[in-house]
Amino acid sequence: MSMINRQLRLKHRPEGLVKREDFDLVREPIGELQPGEVLVRVLYISMDPTNRVWMRDIPQYMPPVAIGEVMRAGGIGRVVRSRSAHFNEGDLVHGLVGWQDYLVIHESAAAAYPRLPADPGVPLPRLLGACGTSGVTAYYGLTDIAPVEAGETLVVSAAAGSVGSVAGQIGKIMGARVVGIAGGAEKCRHLVDRLGFDAAVDYKSHDWKQALKDATPGGVHVDFENVGGDIMKAVMARMVLGGRVAMCGLISGYTGTSKASDDFSVIIVRRLVVRGFLVFDYKKTAQALRALSGWVREGKLKAEETVVDGLEDAPLVLNRLFDGSHTGKLVLRVDPQA
Ligand SMILES: NC(=O)c1ccc[n+]([C@@H]2O[C@H](COP(=O)([O-])OP(=O)(O)OC[C@H]3O[C@@H](n4cnc5c(N)ncnc54)[C@H](OP(=O)(O)O)[C@@H]3O)[C@@H](O)[C@H]2O)c1
Repeated sequence: MSMINRQLRLKHRPEGLVKREDFDLVREPIGELQPGEVLVRVLYISMDPTNRVWMRDIPQYMPPVAIGEVMRAGGIGRVVRSRSAHFNEGDLVHGLVGWQDYLVIHESAAAAYPRLPADPGVPLPRLLGACGTSGVTAYYGLTDIAPVEAGETLVVSAAAGSVGSVAGQIGKIMGARVVGIAGGAEKCRHLVDRLGFDAAVDYKSHDWKQALKDATPGGVHVDFENVGGDIMKAVMARMVLGGRVAMCGLISGYTGTSKASDDFSVIIVRRLVVRGFLVFDYKKTAQALRALSGWVREGKLKAEETVVDGLEDAPLVLNRLFDGSHTGKLVLRVDPQA
């Protein structure tokens, strides 16, 4: 009996938050493999804010997902059949797996699907978070793009999320005073009590701008920016002359319902150095990954994941990045056996 692959294909471009009806759920039999091909069972899918941008027909760093195309997404899979000498059955691979149960990879694309160690030593979802792309993003943001020094004040927005929680903890490892911005009192308590931030500002409280001032009495030296909009403006207004901004993300603008910001005057007034970056520009990440997993082993970096089951719920799970109903790395488990 042939195996069935479920795929979520983009039906039309969502407006605001994503709805199930924005996707077609397609069930297709999996055909015979051709020479050089392997069949990969998708185990985990990385839920990333950039997925929402990929659904939009706007200029971006990759082509938008086309209507009718399987939704693009990163993740981890296991080779379950192989007609390639390059891959063995049982190999773990990571790369763009898409919102589906299975994908076929040709060995000519092997470079885009690097193998993971058979026993990575950490839960697989962590390889998508603190010990993967999120961690590497935070690491280069604070060591290369806007290096933070001991004694300086670092502010991190979306601080309880995947990149932000690692960035704040790296700031502490480097000896900075770290202030996180997150939505809700509980998340803010978590940042201070569990992750060791010096202070946290709840941007959903009415007096959050005053709280940000109180938490940054000497100004802000480095802004690790994940959100944009009013939060970015408020942080930039607190920056010291010549302060540095690692422009990592602008999630407040990704659903297209509001502008991430169109007021750049503070950059002039405060003579800020603002550097945008994409983690994919860093091709050799072994050093970062070694540092991150070392910190996790030593207990200096707490890695957190929210793992949710169910491929068919992927559109609704993605929305949790935008309503904040998760902490740490948000991961979708596709294979219940994983
Ligand atoms: N440059 C790169 O290469 C790169 C790579 C990876 C990620 N990123 C960027 O890094 C940022 C974080 O990504 P992530 O994967 O770690 O996601 P995440 O932080 O785990 O999830 C997103 C968080 O953003 C907050 N948020 C959502 N909408 C918001 C709004 N309108 N105002 C304020 N906060 C909002 C939510 O937290 P609250 O509950 O606190 O609201 C949510 O938990 C994103 O901007 C992403 O695009 C950039």
